Parts: sequence; C-alpha cells; structure tokens
Amino acid sequence: MPALAVLGAQWGDEAKGKVAHVLARDAQFSVRFNGGPNAGHTVQDGYGMARMHQVPVGALHPGCVGVLAHGMALDLWALWEELEDLREQGRPEPVLAFSPRVHLILPHHKLREELEGSAQRIGTTRRGVGPCYEDRAARRGLRLADLDDEEGVRNTLERAVAELRVRGYRDELPIEQTVDALLSFRRELGERVGGVRDRLEHALSEGKYVLFEGAQGALLDLDWGTYPYVTSSTTTVHGVGWGAGIRTDRLDRVIGVCKAYTTRVGEGPFPTEDRGPSGKHMRDVGREYGATTGRPRRCGWLDLVALRYACEINGLTELVMSKLDVLTGLSEVWLCDAYRIAGTRQERFPTRAAELSAAVPVYERLPGWRADLSGKRTGDDLPRPVQRLVSFVEDRVGVPVKTVSVGPGEEQLVALG
Ligand code: IMP
Repeated sequence: MPALAVLGAQWGDEAKGKVAHVLARDAQFSVRFNGGPNAGHTVQDGYGMARMHQVPVGALHPGCVGVLAHGMALDLWALWEELEDLREQGRPEPVLAFSPRVHLILPHHKLREELEGSAQRIGTTRRGVGPCYEDRAARRGLRLADLDDEEGVRNTLERAVAELRVRGYRDELPIEQTVDALLSFRRELGERVGGVRDRLEHALSEGKYVLFEGAQGALLDLDWGTYPYVTSSTTTVHGVGWGAGIRTDRLDRVIGVCKAYTTRVGEGPFPTEDRGPSGKHMRDVGREYGATTGRPRRCGWLDLVALRYACEINGLTELVMSKLDVLTGLSEVWLCDAYRIAGTRQERFPTRAAELSAAVPVYERLPGWRADLSGKRTGDDLPRPVQRLVSFVEDRVGVPVKTVSVGPGEEQLVALG
C-alpha cells in the first residue's frame, strides 16, 4: 500500500476534501500537517455534508486514524465545535491522535490579527493562524505538551495579554477562564496526545497506507507562494517533512488537485482573474463562496504558468482536475500559457507579487462544450473539447491528469486512461 500526499495546486479550495476522503478509504492514517481552522474541506457522504476544518477528512472513515501533526496551528475551541457538529450528524466519533508539539491558537491570537491589520491587508480568514505561527517562530508559543504545566500556561497568557496592552488593547481578557478551558481540553484528550511520529514511521516501514492531507494550496505557501499574500505555513509537499517529521522520499505518489479554472480568496495578484461574465459564470455555477468565511471567491481562467510552477515545486506525480462540469455552457475555454510582463513573454512564475500583478496573461482559446458532464464515468465518454482541454493541460505542465471531477459527488470522479 502506498504513502501519498494530496495537495492543493492553486490558491486553495481545489476540492481536496473530496479527493482526500475517497483516497483515505483504506488508509490506516490520514495526516494533517499544516494550517488549522483557516482550512475548509467539504465532504458529502451518507451522513450528510461535513465541513471539516481541523479534523483530517480521512478520519471520517472508521478504521482510519486522523493525525493532527505538529505543523498545524490548532484551535481547541474550534476543534470541539467541529467534533460536536460531526456528532450531531450522527457520525461515529473520529479516532484522533495529536502531536504534543502542535502549537495552539489562543484567544489573543485572533485579537492580534485584527490589531495588526493583516485581516484587511492580506484578507486572512481571521482565525488567528498567522499570529499563532508568529509566536511559534518567536519562541513564545504554547504547545499541546505545555498544557501539562498549569503555571507555565498562565505565564504564557499573562505575557501575551501584557503585550496586547502595549499595543493599546484595553478590553477585559479572562485569563483564568482560558487556563481552565485549556486544562480541561487537555484532560479530555488524555492518551490521544503523543507518539504520532513513531506510529507513522512504524506504519510506513510496515508498508501500511498513510495519506497526508494538505490544506490551502501551493500559491499560498509561506515561501513558495505569492508572498506576502500567503498563509503562514508550508502548504507544499515540503510540509510533510516540516509539519509531520516524515521524509518526503517516503511518498509514493504526490497528487496535486487543481480546478479546471482558478479561484482565490483574499487579497493578492491573480493574473487570470475574470471580472466579466465568464468569472460570474464560474462563481455562480461553481458556488464559489468560502467554506470557512462565506466570502465570494475571485474567479478566473486556468493559469498554466502557475500550475506548472506548482507541479515543479511539489514534484507532483499526477493531477486531479476538479469542477470541469462548471465550465459547461461557455462558448470558449481560455488557458493562460504564458505572461507578458513589461512587453516580454515569460513562461516562468515570478517571485515578486508586484511582478505578478503586472503580468498580462497570454491565452490559448479552446472550444467550449454544451453537453452535460455530470453522468460521465469514463474518459472516452467525455466530449471531444473536454478531452482536448485535458490533453492540452497535460502537454503544457508535463504531469498526467489521472482523474477529473464532473460534479460534487464522490461517484463523479472519473479515472482517465
Ligand atoms: P490566513 O491563512 O487566515 O492567515 O490567511 C492568509 C491567506 O490565505 C488569505 O488570502 C486567505 O484567504 C488564504 N487562505 C487561508 N486558508 C485558505 C483556504 O483554506 N482556502 C483558500 N484560501 C485560504
């Protein structure tokens, strides 16, 4: 059985949740290694629609252990709500394992995010994720393991509140209540904390099936994304080492998920954004509203310069192209194969956001299609223009598109060739 990673190959929201859920069916472990409640993975199954934020989607399968590894920014209050929502749907309790090294999002992180203005500047999800990772790097964070030291927890919170006061924050902050809540979470987690890396290494050595579930997408990676309009974690394959402590050469398959078009939430450059009727079509038909914040997503054509870059950075072995059905009815489908920057054609993805903002897409226009794709189940059933689009993408990015998705259902994933 393989070890594999499922990663976003764009700016997040590529429908990784569905893909990871299908792939995790026979997995022994399903591992989240980056991000926290900023993620929103939607899964539709026999129990209904689950909106997952921190619980690995693989853990919805009985028999698959969901691992919350140390690279996450974990909000225990939000986790409790998520688990409660799953219970209300009548689902069995997911089996979870937590790294003791995972950093915790605390109430002051959300306040700091507002005070710093990053919510407005970057268009963050306002979940306190950035400030939690800041504290981790500044060596003043609180990890799950640190909850075993009550006095240490109190000291960390008091220092954080003193710092907020320096920044002009005047409202009451209930430190004792927060300490009590954290200690009670820790008691409830009990034996589920600890030993996760050893268990993963052991499973991998035994050839067991382990799935790594990426959150967000390559272009939101702290280092490889469109900095500073990025999230604060490693969203690429390198996050498997960074956030779960597992060597990436352990992975047999690295699967990138991309839409047949592009979306982005929050601020930052987006060369192929379409503010006209085609972008509106994508938003309306694709129901492009954030799973975490409800914000309308910015929509535009598929950007092959960016996708090629995501394939390279991640060493993707294959692609899943989602939401092909959303393009049905458009007379043409445009694909950006290069940029024109300061009058020069460029096929490489630029490093600076300012350069990307100045990029004018050079489009290849392919014919559209009118046929309903939702019932198609084999590659040969797909209309010629769809097959042509898929071949064009494979040819230009150099990675095979092994699966396409033609609707929200899991049975609507079509394996190609
Ligand atoms: P943060 O992760 O909340 O700090 O937000 C930083 C940037 O990443 C913003 O542009 C967010 O909209 C974006 N972002 C964070 N998580 C997701 C996600 O799961 N999907 C899409 N965009 C995201």
